[in-house]
Amino acid sequence: MSQTKPVRITETILRDAHQSLIATRMSTERMLPIVEKLDQVGYHSLECWGGATFDASLRFLHEDPWDRLRKIKDKAKKTPLQMLFRGQNILGYRPYGDDVVEYFVQKSIANGIDIIRIFDCLNDLRNLETAVKASNKEEGHAQIALSYTLGDAYTLEYWTNIAKEIENMGADSICIKDMAGLLLPYKATELVTALKSAVKIPIQLHTHYTSGVASMTYMKAVEAGVDVIDCAMSPFALGTSQPATEVMVETFKGTPYDTGYDQNLLAEIADYFRPYRDECLESGLLNPKNMGVNIKTLLYQVPGGMLSNLTSQLKDLGAEDKYYEVLEEVPRVRKDFGECPLVTPSSQIVGSQAVMNVVAGERYKMVTKETKDVLSGKYGKTVKPFNPEVQKKCIGDAEVITCRPADLVPNELETLEAEMAQYKEQDEDVLSYALFPQVAIDFFKYREAQKTKMDASVADTKNGAYPV
Ligand code: CO
Repeated sequence: MSQTKPVRITETILRDAHQSLIATRMSTERMLPIVEKLDQVGYHSLECWGGATFDASLRFLHEDPWDRLRKIKDKAKKTPLQMLFRGQNILGYRPYGDDVVEYFVQKSIANGIDIIRIFDCLNDLRNLETAVKASNKEEGHAQIALSYTLGDAYTLEYWTNIAKEIENMGADSICIKDMAGLLLPYKATELVTALKSAVKIPIQLHTHYTSGVASMTYMKAVEAGVDVIDCAMSPFALGTSQPATEVMVETFKGTPYDTGYDQNLLAEIADYFRPYRDECLESGLLNPKNMGVNIKTLLYQVPGGMLSNLTSQLKDLGAEDKYYEVLEEVPRVRKDFGECPLVTPSSQIVGSQAVMNVVAGERYKMVTKETKDVLSGKYGKTVKPFNPEVQKKCIGDAEVITCRPADLVPNELETLEAEMAQYKEQDEDVLSYALFPQVAIDFFKYREAQKTKMDASVADTKNGAYPV
């Protein structure tokens, strides 16, 4: 091969890697000292923001996610920053009014995001329109991610057709988002080859090591012409996270795909994170169980995160013995729901319904509100029709939506502003509140209390009461 085509890497250590392995608990303080070095590598982008990072910052770390973004941007002068965005659901779990989606995109870019990876849990492109348009308008890079899944409907023809639609929508690139690690190496060759010949915009591949095939999948995808792959620095790679950055860099060294990244620099970055990994192992935050190969994901086609959710739901119900029955029920529910991909929030909705179907001893005897919403079309259109009998049993004769779901959601920014006005310290606060109302208010109160404490200690110093 004479032509050289260096593969580019998106580094996930600040987002997906710690989300997948340590429940998204890496703090801003932990990240900042290494950002300048990460910035020198020459990565395609640095993924650092998304639904879970936003939620966990506010909820568990008592940190302002906007502040984190600004601080990272301050130190990452060259490398584009990337975020993950759940289409019309933004970073939350329900469809928002267009005005909130637009405002969120605007503020994300204003605070430092360069690339927005936008996906929809049903691959209903109508749910991505507003976010893509807003991103184009703000001159951000709009990447549309296809939620990768398996099933009769998901033929190469399906994927290439949807890729063409994405290109026509004005997306700047496409990501194959394989959240469960289902894409096998030779299937990656077929898929990437087909997509590369169908569209002109770059193709990126995102996968997880859960099922043990990920680095082989990357190798085949790179050989087939994929432009960018998502990797994580080795201390937080493998298992339910991504393939290791250093390993992929070394693999392609001296080939036409050579990244040109400096292994010594990468080694310094790994040295920084390794003691933290040890700390996480010691505290139990990093569970060695998540580090191995979970072959169940291939058997049941269920993402790793969903498996652990199912375990904890069954534990709460005292029905842990029903685990395998539930695993077998998941694909049946998915089929009833038009063979949708399993990714936030559809993974939670299908998982919870599968648990209920098994625990109640009768399918769809108990039904969640979200199940009803899915079957009423409120989340959008699925690749196959819903099972009509299940739909009838769950929603009766209720009206089924066929328009773009957000057309029925009125603009809501003004109402949200009014609800949280007393806590507002920056424009972005209304967006934190829109996504996670209770969590945001708790955080605002915490922030206020911290300030009062600080003011008090400053006053003490002035009074000479400060300990010397
Ligand atoms: Co991921």
